[in-house]
Amino acid sequence: MCGIVGYIGEKNCVNILVEGLKRLEYRGYDSSGIAVIYRNSLKIFKKAGKIIQMESSLPDNLNSKIGIAHTRWATHGEANDINAHPHLSQNNKFSIVHNGIIENYSVLKKKLEAEGYKFKTQTDSEVIAYLIEKNYKDDFEEAFYKALEKLEGAYGIVALCEDNPDFLMVARKGSPLILGVGNDEMFVASDVSAFLGHTKQVVYLDDYEITKIEKNNFKIKDFRLSDIARDVKLLDLDTSASDKGDYSHFMLKEIFEQPESIKRAFAGRLIENFGTAKLGGLNLTPQDLFQIERVGIYACGTSYHAGLVGSYILEELARISAYVEISSEARYKNPLIEKGTIFFAISQSGETADTLFAMREAQRKGAKVLGICNVVVSTIARESNGGVYVHSGPEIAVASTKAFTSQITVLFLYALLMGRMRDVSLQTGKKLINELKMLPEKIQTILNSVDKIDEIAVKYSKLNNYLFLGRGISYPVALEGALKLKEISYRHSEGIAAGEIKHGPIALVDEETPVIFIVPQDNTYDKTISNIEEVKARKGKIISVCFENDQKVKALSDDYIEIPETNSFLSPLLTVIPLQLFAYYTARALGCDIDKPRNLAKSVTVE
Ligand code: F6R
Repeated sequence: MCGIVGYIGEKNCVNILVEGLKRLEYRGYDSSGIAVIYRNSLKIFKKAGKIIQMESSLPDNLNSKIGIAHTRWATHGEANDINAHPHLSQNNKFSIVHNGIIENYSVLKKKLEAEGYKFKTQTDSEVIAYLIEKNYKDDFEEAFYKALEKLEGAYGIVALCEDNPDFLMVARKGSPLILGVGNDEMFVASDVSAFLGHTKQVVYLDDYEITKIEKNNFKIKDFRLSDIARDVKLLDLDTSASDKGDYSHFMLKEIFEQPESIKRAFAGRLIENFGTAKLGGLNLTPQDLFQIERVGIYACGTSYHAGLVGSYILEELARISAYVEISSEARYKNPLIEKGTIFFAISQSGETADTLFAMREAQRKGAKVLGICNVVVSTIARESNGGVYVHSGPEIAVASTKAFTSQITVLFLYALLMGRMRDVSLQTGKKLINELKMLPEKIQTILNSVDKIDEIAVKYSKLNNYLFLGRGISYPVALEGALKLKEISYRHSEGIAAGEIKHGPIALVDEETPVIFIVPQDNTYDKTISNIEEVKARKGKIISVCFENDQKVKALSDDYIEIPETNSFLSPLLTVIPLQLFAYYTARALGCDIDKPRNLAKSVTVE
């Protein structure tokens, strides 16, 4: 979603800002812009479309030691040049970039209009610059504080004042901002990747914090303007993952990383001789774990699907009741927090606003919420009461792939841990661990058959509607397969519990409808075969994902993709791989912008 970069220092910041924005491109955006102070005057350049279009509008001699930059993902007002950030105050003295949503902007705008201010954009953000101007009486810092007092909603803001070229003002409430501390230079960004090439020394800002940054100094205050001390941390990040290497897209690279990323998710977390797992980050003693009667899971999108898979494993393997809620629903329904329930907030980015707020609401009511995050030191990771990193490595493609399989791996480990405290025998625990350890190799076998998946995807790519069907633990996999396909190929696709088709969706089936069945040989196998027959009788095109020895399903299918056999609890980690590849090759056949699909953002920091 929207990205912010700011710089103050000794260098010309124009390239630093543009390069920083390019590093944030993966988050999704529809316009971009920069504001700098050039020859004592504020200059703004902004354009709808790709960053390169904005970049080519920059004068060659543009030079500045202070500036702010933004990639916008439109929420209020269409994606055009005018609505792009940075925004200017009416007197052209102040400029701001903003991530988040100002919820009371229309009230503020009306008041300012009544005072004679004339607005230029349709955005909610522009009022911030105008409020700073209105409150300015020779003190930019003071005017910034006063403007913040009026704002309701969520924000990460960086502001620049033409008369004060020595500092930037920054505020965070609900939208992440991180400082980068260099030598005689300071960065601020919504994501460390924007400045990682320059410094690895960072300062994480928390919500309700305001910061004044100068080239050699930063001062953090809370919203009551009391000083806050904060240490500079050294980031230990591998930046090579932000490179596509020989792959044509980040998505394909990330799909191919799964044998390794899954290994990282379980590495060091198995106690093989006890047939169980250890998850130190949970901060729970065996006695605490023993008290848990129920598991609640909050997540969105692909992470929600991982949560659904986890709930099946938790109930069947650990015999512990588990439910999953879409965060945006949970947060507004006054959730019931029952004693004995432990919650998980699952989020690749760790910044998803809906999940963060659902987590806070549950915590406010006294619940313990554990994070399952990928991005280290993200907001959910920091605010949760403990948790587990999935260690997938940076996921750059908007469509989530390797994070999904790592999230399931971590949920499986938690279920194994709980199961071994309940019904699961030592022998079963050991068997499951053995099976888990074989998965990276089995995934590799599927990856070796990409050509066949490519062929099948191309064969059907002219068709418009796809159905994905599965039962039991394969139902969330069907949802995930459909989500992957629709988000990157823009083909209509639905994930359906196979047993539900005769209750309505079968009406969609005709000879132009590919129906993808996920059919591992588990306790739902025979029932799924009946559903295949039902679809076949209506001339639907059957594409199945089945075990390699499954002659029955192969004979029923127009096309099939084989996967190695595995235990039913672990089958989603294999069945989803062909679906990720199917979506990828369909989108490629259709010439779609795979890594940056239209209208989507990598990290959804607004509700
Ligand atoms: C789909 C996708 C989204 C995210 C969702 C939650 O490919 O990427 O559906 O899964 O926006 O994001 P996180 O996991 O960062 O909370």
